[in-house]
Parts: sequence; structure tokens; C-alpha cells
Amino acid sequence: MLSAAVPQAGVLGWPVRHSLSPRVHGYWLKHYDLAGSYEHLPVPPEVFEAYVRALTLHGYVGANVTVPHKEAALALCDDLDTAARTIGAVNTLIFRDGRIEGRNSDAFGFLESLRRAFPALRTSSGPAVVLGAGGAARAVIYALKTVGAPEIRVLNRTVSRAERLAEELGPSVIAEPLAPEALRDAVLLVNTTSLGMTGQSRLDLDLLSLPPASAVVDIVYKPLQTDLLRNAAAAGHPTMNGLGMLLHQARPGFEAWFGVSPDVDQDLRAAVLEGLE
Ligand code: ATR
Repeated sequence: MLSAAVPQAGVLGWPVRHSLSPRVHGYWLKHYDLAGSYEHLPVPPEVFEAYVRALTLHGYVGANVTVPHKEAALALCDDLDTAARTIGAVNTLIFRDGRIEGRNSDAFGFLESLRRAFPALRTSSGPAVVLGAGGAARAVIYALKTVGAPEIRVLNRTVSRAERLAEELGPSVIAEPLAPEALRDAVLLVNTTSLGMTGQSRLDLDLLSLPPASAVVDIVYKPLQTDLLRNAAAAGHPTMNGLGMLLHQARPGFEAWFGVSPDVDQDLRAAVLEGLE
């Protein structure tokens, strides 16, 4: 088949119907009046690599990658950026000149949303606490390292996973027991576990040891207001949910595929919130 005249992209996942990425990119394509398309691309793990290679031959300029393919995507790339290599996962594929380039924009998305939500926050001014030790934690820890967090405490139910992350990403990354005292003198607390998500158990963590001005982030966006954020706000902490990270992580891919550096504005937020309902 000949390449399509308009650049095509999409999000690869299994299942993927729930992904809000087509809404984000669809909004930008319309907003910037660009020719292009972005769709859900459901693909089971067994055929992931063959499917990606087929896309490169059929007018696709790239794709986002979500669960469960982020590691498989890393393995098939010809080129990787530092974030993807360090995080060990690819969420953005760019097809160019017969090569497959893999990037990870989750750390970028996290930092951009953080910067906008808390302009006065100095991540280099004190310890950060990260709850969880999965893929999302890796992205957040990598991000915090790049902005000079002097100490990143990783708290996880399965302590060995936190210890492994600390070993790999240290020496500023340390594993600590999942206990309230770990929040002492932290400037930032970030939940990357699935606790608090719709359908999961709630995250129960006493915030008393956290200094009152410290920011609390939950990268969950379903629901937008988790128990953690509600408790934090009630105790006077500035808070941020995961919607900003979701929107900002989409920017680098859009720019690479469609040639315009897109903005996250209120109308985009509204369009995506509609999809969340
Ligand atoms: P992701 O790639 O999205 O980060 P993941 O690798 O499955 O997903 O990681 C999920 C995180 O949520 C882990 O830190 C997990 O803790 P464990 O390493 O102990 O499994 C955490 N998590 C999930 N359910 C949990 C629960 N019921 N209680 C405590 N932590 C939980």
C-alpha cells in the first residue's frame, strides 16, 4: 500500500479503548488546523513488533505506546533518548528515514505539569518522597533527578522493589520503609502507585510529618480528586492531580509527528475532562 497523504499516528495498547490520547491529539490537530489523524490502535502483545513495523510502511509517522507494550517498544527501537533508556520504557515512537526512534516523555510531562502547578517550588531545596516502585515511579524519579532533587525517598509495599530502584538510580535515590516518618522535611510527595484509582483500595498515609507548605501530587487522574489529595488539601498542602502530566507528556510526540509545538490550554483540559466523565 502507498503511504497516506496525511501523517497518521495513534496509541498502541491492549486494551486501549480507554485511552484519552486520541482526544488530546484530535483537539490539537483541529486547534492548529493541521492535516493528520490520531486513533486508537489496539494490538495484542504477540503481534506488537510486526504491527509496529507494518505501521512504518503505511503512512504512519509514529505512535504513543501504553500498557502493556512500553518495554516491548523499547526493545525494537533503533535509537533511544536518555529518558527511555534510563526509565526502561518507551511511550513515544517516531518513524523517520526508515528508523524507529523511541522516547519517553513521561518525565517531561511530569516536570512540565509540576512547574506550571507550583511555579515557586524548588525541587533542589529538599528531599522528595515517591510512593511506589513501578514504571511510573521510575519516570518520576528520573524526572526529579534531572531537576536536582538532593534526595529521593522511595516508599513501596514491596520493599525489595524500592531497593532495586535505589540501587539502579542512586546514590540520591534511597529506599525507606512505607511509614509517616519518611515524609519528614520533604518538599514534595508524589504518589505513583495505583492506590486511590477508581476500583482500587484507598491510599492511607498519615501526612502529619509532612511540612505544611510541601506539595502533594497524585499522578492518578481517575478520579481527579483522590483521598490523598483531599486529605492533603484539607491539611493546607498545595496539590496537583495527574491530568497535567497526561496532557504534557503528549506534547513532544505531537511536535515530532505534526510539526507544531502544542500548548496545554483550558479548552484542551475541558475536552479531556469530558472524556473522563
Ligand atoms: P506502573 O507501571 O503503572 O507504575 P506497576 O509497575 O504495576 O505499575 O506498579 C504499581 C505500583 O503500585 C507498585 O509500586 C505497587 O506496589 P508493589 O511493588 O508492592 O506491588 C503499588 N501497588 C499496587 N497495589 C497496591 C496495594 N494494594 N497496596 C500497596 N501498593 C500497591
